[in-house]
Amino acid sequence: MNGSIGLRDYLVRLATEPTALASYVRDPDAAMADAGLDRTGRDALAAADIGPIWNALLDRTAANGSADVAYSDGARMADRQRESLIVVGTGICAVGQLTVDAIAYMKESDVVLYLVGDPVAESVIRSLNPSGAMSLRGYYGEGIVRNESYEAMVQHILSCVRAGKRTCVAFYGHPGVFAYPAHEAIRRARKEGYVARMLPGVSAEDCLFADLNVDPAVNGCQSVEASDFLVHEKAIDTSCALVLWQVGVVGDWTYRTSGYELRAFPLLMEKLTRHYGKWHEVTIYEAATLPELKPKILKIALGYLTPEYVNAGTTMYVPPARAKTLDAAYGSLLAAAR
Ligand SMILES: C[S@@+](CC[C@H](N)C(=O)[O-])C[C@H]1O[C@@H](n2cnc3c(N)ncnc32)[C@H](O)[C@@H]1O
Repeated sequence: MNGSIGLRDYLVRLATEPTALASYVRDPDAAMADAGLDRTGRDALAAADIGPIWNALLDRTAANGSADVAYSDGARMADRQRESLIVVGTGICAVGQLTVDAIAYMKESDVVLYLVGDPVAESVIRSLNPSGAMSLRGYYGEGIVRNESYEAMVQHILSCVRAGKRTCVAFYGHPGVFAYPAHEAIRRARKEGYVARMLPGVSAEDCLFADLNVDPAVNGCQSVEASDFLVHEKAIDTSCALVLWQVGVVGDWTYRTSGYELRAFPLLMEKLTRHYGKWHEVTIYEAATLPELKPKILKIALGYLTPEYVNAGTTMYVPPARAKTLDAAYGSLLAAAR
């Protein structure tokens, strides 16, 4: 055991040192004892309630300003020991966007199954867990419907969980954004009584907001998958931004390494043009996946867009085409309420 440290310093350590967090993930009690966390800090974390934690952080007593409302639904510390399935994201560029949480869980799990797009992310995962890492990519097959491959991936994930292995699954980007097998594996594992959890990651949309310098707070933002946009009637609000995912695979439900069948692309352009007009300028966007690369950002009018401009990793950003209209009724109600 090291010298005694307070809760604030201990949490800083967990936030900045993946190995410290990995020890905590493995065995919270042992990790806290080993780090020399003082009794107040240990009790506060074990209580899993915001009040005692704030009291310990601010060095005040419970009587002197504890939180009024306890909204924690129980101790995560106890759950950690029983966690069977943890789904993490590697970010779009694993170098820099991998969270400390994701690193800790990849290190501490018995197996790490992964589906990532670039060799660096793959090497990072394998280096974190050399004996337990295995790619799920083999479930894809040229020309095979992607949903069939996803089902096989879910089955594989669940077989590891059922075998009693602490299973971590890593997807690129945010693991819950356009990642059906991630959500489905968690749903099924929970249904079978296992503790399963997803940790957030950095998605392509997060990178887009940063690289294109746009803030969804200004006009709002609709986020829609391209085939979904095409085949369903959606209330598209052209005063709002639109992020269109998977434009480079629109209308093709299979997996391809040699380029997607984009016969539906003209239909997508036709529908977008109906909403926005032929001369509306959109951005074709690809976030950098490796350090030192710049994002690809191409501004082009809808009328000039052809399939050659997109690929499986392209996202389209459509800025608003008109100003917002005031809702007079609710505007006056709000004014009256103030
Ligand atoms: C199956 S989804 C995976 C999304 C991923 N889970 C995430 O959090 O961003 C694939 C789609 O994500 C978007 N995407 C993936 N990589 C990207 C990148 N480097 N730049 C921009 N968009 C990307 C594209 O729209 C692509 O068709």
